[in-house]
Amino acid sequence: MTHFLDIHKTDPADLRRIIDTARKMKDNRDGRPKGAADDERPLEGAMVALIFEKPSTRTRVSFDVGVRQMGGQTMVLSGADMQLGHGETIADTARVLSRYVDLIMIRTFEEATLLEMADHAEVPVINGLTNRTHPCQIMADVMTYEEHRGPIKGRKVVWSGDGNNVFASFAHAAQQFDFEMVFTGPEPLDPEPALRGLITVERDPAKAVADADLVVTDTWVSMHDPQSAKERRHNQLRGYQVNAELMARARPDALFMHCLPAHREDEVTSEVMDGPHSVIWDEAENRLHAQKAIMRHCLGL
Ligand code: CP
Ligand code: NVA
Repeated sequence: MTHFLDIHKTDPADLRRIIDTARKMKDNRDGRPKGAADDERPLEGAMVALIFEKPSTRTRVSFDVGVRQMGGQTMVLSGADMQLGHGETIADTARVLSRYVDLIMIRTFEEATLLEMADHAEVPVINGLTNRTHPCQIMADVMTYEEHRGPIKGRKVVWSGDGNNVFASFAHAAQQFDFEMVFTGPEPLDPEPALRGLITVERDPAKAVADADLVVTDTWVSMHDPQSAKERRHNQLRGYQVNAELMARARPDALFMHCLPAHREDEVTSEVMDGPHSVIWDEAENRLHAQKAIMRHCLGL
């Protein structure tokens, strides 16, 4: 069973193949309408379950559109509306869903939920974000970097802000795609200790971004963070905002990325989001292409 649970759990050669496939599939669409099927339809006859226990715009729409472009069908399920939210175990849910669908994508809170789903499903399971990681996002990010600037290998990527789930997948990607990953943020919001061997930490954002090829940030309050922590987090992170002054310290051709949704004027200014370094809309688009390639990888198609 080929699940896509995390970047560090997928072989680097497979990760590279996924990016290459995504690139080819994007090129092959050749400006056709979004709802038009690809020439190749590897998911013809396939049914894909998309389960969301948290809100989503990009993940939900890009998976749904991607499956349809590849000839398959989807059902979008909200965790709260399923028996999953009413006491049926994840394992039993996984066993049952496996009798109806060919692939499961799940966005959930605890990583344990994803892993239990994967352990008991008889079909591949894709991680659509947990409190801990967001691997589909970073596959799109690597694809986007390479589309604009060539191989990411050996490049310097700087994350300014909260050491969260999106950062964790970036750190995993640094290891698998062989680039440098620098974290700059306040100590209380450091990434989990297990990631420390994969990254460099620099508390001073101005020093951290020197010579950066790519600067990245994300929301200061993630979906799993309590709203009561908002004010404290904002106070801790204010000095790590990505603004024009910070970007000016990176390489002149540095790119800026954000997985979105963004909170303009908090973690990033509109000047940067809408400015010349930013590739955020390509990044969002590439979720579609990267995930199509991930689904093909999982199904061996
Ligand atoms: N970046 C991302 O995963 O966005 P959504 O939460 O809208 O899916
Ligand atoms: N870190 C954010 C990412 C959203 C796509 C969150 O988990 O809410």
